[in-house]
Amino acid sequence: MRLQGKVAIITGGGNGIGRETAALFVKEGAKVCVADYDETAGRKTAEELRAISEESAMSVKVDVSSAESVERMVATVLERWGTPDILINNAGITQDSMLTKMSIEQWQRVIDVNLNGVFYCTRFVAPHMVQKGNGKIINTSSIVGVHGNIGQTNYAASKAGVIGMTKSWAKELGHKGINVNAVAPGFIETGMVSKMPEKVLQNLLDKVPLHRLGKPSDIAHAYLYLASDESDYVNGTVLEVNGGLVI
Ligand code: CAA
Ligand code: NAI
Repeated sequence: MRLQGKVAIITGGGNGIGRETAALFVKEGAKVCVADYDETAGRKTAEELRAISEESAMSVKVDVSSAESVERMVATVLERWGTPDILINNAGITQDSMLTKMSIEQWQRVIDVNLNGVFYCTRFVAPHMVQKGNGKIINTSSIVGVHGNIGQTNYAASKAGVIGMTKSWAKELGHKGINVNAVAPGFIETGMVSKMPEKVLQNLLDKVPLHRLGKPSDIAHAYLYLASDESDYVNGTVLEVNGGLVI
């Protein structure tokens, strides 16, 4: 058991990569707060996990783009389980559009969720980790945050911003016993990718040396490594998990 007795918050834990991660973390002995805006999915995920092990999961409805909502979510975890050992800032959205057609609302919402959301969650969790003297913070960037992508100005900006915050916090919090890292997934089989036009997706797949999309478990295992003691000397890194799409 690589996470025995650890308390983890996984934002966006109700679906896709977050849901897979919640299940893996519980199997590895963690107690997981599934913190999701999609209340139904969050509750369902937590219920399924409690069937594996009682007290292993709870769900809290949160909108990470709202500082008040995040503060309430973190207070609930502190009250029930104490200081979280692990924060996975995984919640994220896309609202794709070509630059010349992108509305201000599309720009703003993606920045609010993907960038501000990571700041709010970390802002409310980190002081407790500092007080305890240890913690693992894992932020979800994207291949798009490193290399850009047609139709994703808002998303690319948010995910590049996540890398900037990761490196800043790794420098700021390292000597307090807290490791901060990011995972930059390539194209992973979830609801997010299923919205892509077939032609664009096929084009992309042809360029992946492994000739397949990633699976949510490919990312869940990267999160697990960065959340476990095995990565204690890894700090400020961006772990790219993309099948070699960009080499
Ligand atoms: N590569 C090459 N050409 C592309 C392209 C691409 N990735 N995407 C669009 N184009 C081309 C189109 O072929 C088209 O060319 P023509 O004018 O010569 O016909 C032109 O650009 C305009 O494209 P659309 O007709 O599709 O324009 P649209 O305004 O209807 O739609 C769009 C634009 C919403 C951005 C749509 O193209 C789209 O959804 N593209 C996919 C964007 C994408 O890759 N999203 C990733 C989602 S998964 C994710 O984000 C997770 C992660 O972190 C990786
Ligand atoms: P998904 O759409 O399956 O899951 C995202 C989850 O985030 C959902 O449960 C959703 O309800 C939740 N969420 C959305 N807005 C929220 C908000 N305001 N507050 C709280 N929760 C919210 O997507 P997927 O693919 O599992 O994505 C997880 C993370 O991985 C995202 O940050 C995404 O940007 C990132 N990513 C995904 C890739 C992919 O190809 N699927 C590639 C690279 C990065």
